[in-house]
Amino acid sequence: MALTFRLNGETVRITDARPTVTLLDWLREEQGLTGTKEGCNEGDCGACTVMVTDSRGSKALNACILFLPQLQGKSVRTVEGASGPDGSLHPVQQAMVDHHGSQCGFCTPGFIMSMVTAHANGATDFDDQLAGNLCRCTGYAPIIRAAETAKDAPVPDWIAQEGSFIWPEISRGEAAGRGAAPPMLPGSADELADLFERRPDATLVAGATDVGLWVTKQLRHLPQMIFLGGCDDLKGIEVADSAVRIGAMADMNALRAAMEPLHPSFAEMLRRFASQQIRAAASVGGNIANGSPIGDTPPALIALGTTLHLRKGDSRRELPLEDFFLDYGKQDRGPGEFVEAVSFPRQPDALKVYKLSKRFDQDISAVLGAFNVTVMNGNISAARIAFGGMAGIPKRAARVEAALTGQPWDQATIQTAAAAFDQDFTPMSDMRASAAYRLEAARNMLTRYFAEQNGAAVSVLEVRP
Ligand SMILES: Cc1cc2nc3c(=O)[nH]c(=O)nc-3n(C[C@H](O)[C@H](O)[C@H](O)COP(=O)(O)OP(=O)(O)OC[C@H]3O[C@@H](n4cnc5c(N)ncnc54)[C@H](O)[C@@H]3O)c2cc1C
Ligand code: FES
Ligand code: FES
Repeated sequence: MALTFRLNGETVRITDARPTVTLLDWLREEQGLTGTKEGCNEGDCGACTVMVTDSRGSKALNACILFLPQLQGKSVRTVEGASGPDGSLHPVQQAMVDHHGSQCGFCTPGFIMSMVTAHANGATDFDDQLAGNLCRCTGYAPIIRAAETAKDAPVPDWIAQEGSFIWPEISRGEAAGRGAAPPMLPGSADELADLFERRPDATLVAGATDVGLWVTKQLRHLPQMIFLGGCDDLKGIEVADSAVRIGAMADMNALRAAMEPLHPSFAEMLRRFASQQIRAAASVGGNIANGSPIGDTPPALIALGTTLHLRKGDSRRELPLEDFFLDYGKQDRGPGEFVEAVSFPRQPDALKVYKLSKRFDQDISAVLGAFNVTVMNGNISAARIAFGGMAGIPKRAARVEAALTGQPWDQATIQTAAAAFDQDFTPMSDMRASAAYRLEAARNMLTRYFAEQNGAAVSVLEVRP
């Protein structure tokens, strides 16, 4: 079976692509479509942004970390296809011309495709939509002005038609692969469970925002890959009366939308998770399974009391999310076992998530603290506090929790508990922060939580001189 997808409105069929070829390389080297640029080749700069459409809608994605099998049955539009068949400019292109939104032009194709996608989706939060596109010379004001100008123009026919070219029946099975085993493309969690049990040595690929870099930066050979993108039954987020269940393949934008009404501080942190392009690809399951000590969702989920749902073949098991992380680079997951979902109980919202990074947007956390403290009649009845960036794994602040629980909810308790961070964590110094800075930041976050829960404005976006 070959890979089939649409490119700028035309059907393409690839019979012998290596599964680790990125869309960017294929476009530039095999199709001569050099409008899509290569800047960083690691998902950071947005120069390679394309629009990808499937039955769930259109996303701006970074072509440099998108493997060809991830496109099976989808529609891709590059900057060459932003304008109409008769050459007429897309409204965002015309607005970029009118507002002088381009100088050297290297970043411009990526900006155009982020803007085309935002325009197609009716999204007008342009600071967020364009945070994953870096421009070194024009400055953002003219670009944002161009996006603002074009926002009310109708979506051109050639873009509006993207969603009508979808062949869900081919988003499954095995695809051809040159020089490597054909990649596997299961169409459901059951198919995935069966394939992974038979090939436990395979690399699972969800959004590829980590795995993509293994190939483009580490030049790793991945002999057998299983792509999870066709498992629609792993993408759902169910909000029931008693619990919230999040499928492993839910992406960060979907998670953010689901968290907004339930735990808005979690949603606000997710606004700063990488960029629009990465959030549209990155999955919850990947953010947990990679075992990173600086992944942003695990501390927040641990603070909410999350249960991890693992599956191997037909057998399933559950464990508290914090118990999954055994040591740096070591997780409680056996061969052939995968993350199927996470769930946490519905609860009154007391969660605050503080992400500390050098840059506001598109940056990895130096420290991320998640606080969930229950206060009843002036006393602390329960405390769940978890951190990223403070240890080799995402970890609860067990001593701090113990110092809080049962105590009065006042400044004296907070001060006493803050001293316990030294017993919970021995952070390391690295390029993001020193150990001393990390510990002090953690203590300050507890003070911040106390202030915020007592009604003070604590966000840099809220505090005004
Ligand atoms: C530019 C850039 C910015 C980033 N910024 C952030 C950030 O701000 N915060 C942050 O936390 N992360 C960030 N990341 C890291 C990355 O985006 C996240 O870790 C993401 O959640 C990984 O998900 P994925 O679906 O892309 O995983 P993949 O890359 O597809 O997979 C990651 C790992 O998980 C495994 N895996 C995937 N799904 C499953 C499953 N269901 N069961 C078992 N194993 C599975 C894979 O085999 C692989 O080992 C960034 C990455 C890039 C490139
Ligand atoms: S080339 Fe920089 S994000 Fe792809
Ligand atoms: S116009 Fe030169 S990088 Fe943006």
